[in-house]
Amino acid sequence: MDEFKVTPWDVEGLVDYNKLIEEFGTSPLTDELLEKTAQLTKSELPLYFRRRFFFSHRDYDKVLQDYESGKGFFLYTGRGPSGPMHIGHIIPFFATKWLQEKFKVNLYIQITDDEKFLFKDKLTFEDTRYWAYQNILDIIAVGFDPDRTFIFQDSEFTQIYEMAIPIAKKINFSMARAVFGFTEQSKIGMIFYPAIQAAPTFFEKKRCLIPAAIDQDPYWRLQRDFAESLGYYKTAALHSKFVPGLMGLEGKMSASKPETAVYLTDDPEEAGKKIWKYTLTGGQPTLKEQREKGGNPEKCVVFKWLEIFFEEDDKKLMERYHACKAGELTCGECKRYLIKKVQEFLIDHQKKRKEAEKQVEKFKYTGELAREQWERSIPEPLKG
Ligand code: TYM
Repeated sequence: MDEFKVTPWDVEGLVDYNKLIEEFGTSPLTDELLEKTAQLTKSELPLYFRRRFFFSHRDYDKVLQDYESGKGFFLYTGRGPSGPMHIGHIIPFFATKWLQEKFKVNLYIQITDDEKFLFKDKLTFEDTRYWAYQNILDIIAVGFDPDRTFIFQDSEFTQIYEMAIPIAKKINFSMARAVFGFTEQSKIGMIFYPAIQAAPTFFEKKRCLIPAAIDQDPYWRLQRDFAESLGYYKTAALHSKFVPGLMGLEGKMSASKPETAVYLTDDPEEAGKKIWKYTLTGGQPTLKEQREKGGNPEKCVVFKWLEIFFEEDDKKLMERYHACKAGELTCGECKRYLIKKVQEFLIDHQKKRKEAEKQVEKFKYTGELAREQWERSIPEPLKG
């Protein structure tokens, strides 16, 4: 398939990320911007920046300028709680954590139990609230600063509605339809929802930076059309690519295809079996051919997962790449290596997830930023 499609709900085909930059009208994340990030944070960049898993942005240059000039900025990201979170969902949160730690800025995390109830026919409100709690544990396990982070669930933090009203007055149906492809059959709640996802970009009178996969960009494109007319900044964004599912590089790892995903709550033993059984590699049909012709790391999900997240060491990754090409490695060896890495990650994550149970209150209600946000009146221009 050489056609591909990226929407906030679905990713199909083999995504050509350079084409996507053109199609969405975003900018490539350049060496210069990454070097400046390293210089300002006095840190080595994490692998998902170094290896361009984050590949595109909107106004990230301005975010760095605002930081340098002392104006500052804040972070915003989110999760739609439709089920358990998988490895793909958590990577934007790791990137966000890194940015928060290095720039020491506030972070708002929106949990859209309303969105998933409205968009998914099979889910009840009870379901999405259940998943909201479960997903919040995974998010807290990433290790955010509790005093600089506010995690909120739309159905509880109802001030979000007050903020969404003036936004909803700025978006007409034809704009929303052009961006999201709504039809006559779309529920009216779905049509209103983009105003709710845009609202946190106005939580502070500073520039907002959103790290997320590029599927969420249509929301930011819309926000950028009217933000200044409400007296706020156009939001900035850092866009990541998609972690592929186990069975191939096309599309994205998706919670709706459980055998293609490794969930953060999977039993490590079971996760290992799933990876062993389902993962597509770039190997040759026989061992003899593998030794003679070498493998194709470019076409291999195992290599991709190592590159994106599981092999921190650049030198080891390159050695693996060349050894594969030279036919010195078998796919079984690589799979075993990845399984070990994934299992180590899951064991560590699940331990932190358990500890997170004690921290939910703090992130939602009693942490400094959470308390402030619950008590704060609605910002001026949004009073409408
Ligand atoms: P959701 O729950 O679909 O996705 C949560 C985050 O994970 C990213 N993502 C992926 N990243 C890499 N590989 C994948 N295979 C993959 N699949 C999903 C998403 O881009 C997102 O960053 N409507 C949103 C919830 C939301 C939100 C936000 C997300 C509300 N406000 C602000 C990001 C930023 C949603 O359903 O995300």
